[in-house]
Amino acid sequence: MTPFNKPRLTSDIDGAHYNGAKEKQMERKTVNITIDGRSLDVEKGSTVLLAAREFGIHIPTVCYMENLTPYGGCRICVVEISDNGGKPFIDTSCTYEVKEGMVIQTRSPRIIRARKMLAELLVSSAPNVKMAQDIAARMGLLKVRFPMEDNRCILCGLCIRMCYEQMDGKALGFVGRGMGRKVSMPFEVRPETCRLCRGCDYVCPGVIIPCQGVKEPGELCGRCVRIEEMPDCCPMGTFGCFCEQNPL
Ligand code: SF4
Ligand code: SF4
Ligand code: FES
Repeated sequence: MTPFNKPRLTSDIDGAHYNGAKEKQMERKTVNITIDGRSLDVEKGSTVLLAAREFGIHIPTVCYMENLTPYGGCRICVVEISDNGGKPFIDTSCTYEVKEGMVIQTRSPRIIRARKMLAELLVSSAPNVKMAQDIAARMGLLKVRFPMEDNRCILCGLCIRMCYEQMDGKALGFVGRGMGRKVSMPFEVRPETCRLCRGCDYVCPGVIIPCQGVKEPGELCGRCVRIEEMPDCCPMGTFGCFCEQNPL
């Protein structure tokens, strides 16, 4: 028997433990999933949101931001998931990990209904926050049935994660529950760990200049996404706000 036809032993490759199954597992760094009827090979360990984005499938988000830990708070990114042929359920795509054979619907009637309701609640609580206005506009909402509040914080938690994870500030957190929930510093005093880096401001959707198009309480403009009906109220004239080019 020559060295060339000798059976390969488990210790033959650089002294490392070798077996076929392990090699196969190492090679297979993708899983096959179906999103909106398209069969896709996506990276193992990816979330549904990132897998969809990789293939240009748009899922709206509010509390998700690249390089910050997904929080799953706003639920705008919900999708319908069927795992191993089971009954479809709704979950947040920014936190849900892909699995082999998973079937995902990002725009089923059930999802559109759920997202519209979430967008309506969001914009009714913060009608002057541009991100809430934009989400509502893209959902085609023109009226809000709930009482309008005027919150400037949409409780997305981006500032908290930015401070904690990127700025090493650990200066912000949520306090309170329900209607009383808010972002605060410990005992409402700026701790020494806050270096006034303004990272929290940088990511906050509440500091972006809102659209001035809302006329009456409960009425939503939304014409920036229906650009052919350019309203007089839009200060950008015929250029609109590029919503189509820069989707939410
Ligand atoms: S300014 Fe202070 S609270 Fe804001 S991110 Fe920086 S360290 Fe955190
Ligand atoms: S302060 Fe801004 S970033 Fe922080 S939770 Fe509220 S809206 Fe989000
Ligand atoms: S973006 Fe996924 S829950 Fe907010």
